[in-house]
Amino acid sequence: MAAGLCVAVVGATGAAGQTTLKILEERKFPLRELRAFASERSVGKTVTFRGEPVTIRRVEPAAFKGVDIAFCSAGSAQAREYAPMIVKAGATVIDKSNAYRMDPDVPLVVPEINPHAARGHHGIIACPNCTTIVTVMPLKPLHDAGKLTRVIATSFQAVSGAGVGGIAELREQTLAWARGEPITPRHFPHQIAFNLIPAIDKVESDGYTGEERKLVNETRKILETPGLRIAPTTVRVPVFTSHSVSVTAETEVKVSAARARDLFARFPGLRLWDDPAQHRYPMPIAVEGQDDCFVGRIREDLSSPNGLSFWVVGDQLRKGAATNAVQPRNGAGQT
Ligand code: A2P
Repeated sequence: MAAGLCVAVVGATGAAGQTTLKILEERKFPLRELRAFASERSVGKTVTFRGEPVTIRRVEPAAFKGVDIAFCSAGSAQAREYAPMIVKAGATVIDKSNAYRMDPDVPLVVPEINPHAARGHHGIIACPNCTTIVTVMPLKPLHDAGKLTRVIATSFQAVSGAGVGGIAELREQTLAWARGEPITPRHFPHQIAFNLIPAIDKVESDGYTGEERKLVNETRKILETPGLRIAPTTVRVPVFTSHSVSVTAETEVKVSAARARDLFARFPGLRLWDDPAQHRYPMPIAVEGQDDCFVGRIREDLSSPNGLSFWVVGDQLRKGAATNAVQPRNGAGQT
């Protein structure tokens, strides 16, 4: 039998699924067979992997026989339905959806931060929300150095975080605007071109969105800090790829801006771009296509003696989704 793993990508036609295929290719993932899955409407169509067409299959138990790992990015409802069936067929599921993240029996893993959590999984490993991943990367070295006591985080989230429909909507609205044509929102509740939408999903009765709750709960689970105080605001912005987050973090022990620069520069998966005099700081357009998260605008908080403010940007389809999912199985980020 050929060496390598049999890998399934569920949601292979979507934004995260397509990036997963790209990353499996780039990282020369040790793979002997790739199986691609999407919804009923895509069955029989093809996606490209290593220059070859791969036919989309229907999600059904028999199709997962012999699969070692299934990377799933087809949405939460689909994950709830499919993951137990895929595990039963013998595969480990790396799930990108929200379905299992807060399940106490399911590890929620960022490979650079808590690879130990993946040990002893019961078939499903959850991949955190894309904004959580980008935010938690610089929080980890700060926490280790000074013990976090409070975090205020405001995200600026790209449209591709909402899938291929989000990408199409920004493109179409931008073209319509340039032609002077009327703009009718379809995917987002408001026009996204040349606008900001200060709610990623439904605002609940407590005033917070589900996305904001994910940022709070998942950060606590990954950092193993159940009581950490976090104030989240999540905003959709007219950027195609890469989420940016403005963070102010307070620590029990003061971490100076100089020390933070050193900590961030040394942390695996984080890169320092902090030379504002040269207009050098992370921006979505510069970070798109990269696997690391980039941090800059590092400064001590004017309003709190132990506070530190910074700006972090990550390509949320790569580190925020596909890269984070592939890394643990690929030997990378195993610190
Ligand atoms: P399809 O292209 O057939 O709709 P995105 O997040 O970019 O919108 O992508 C969602 C992905 O999940 C797509 O690949 C989509 O396939 C897939 N998907 C959606 N519904 C299902 C389903 N019921 N079963 C399997 N895959 C699904």
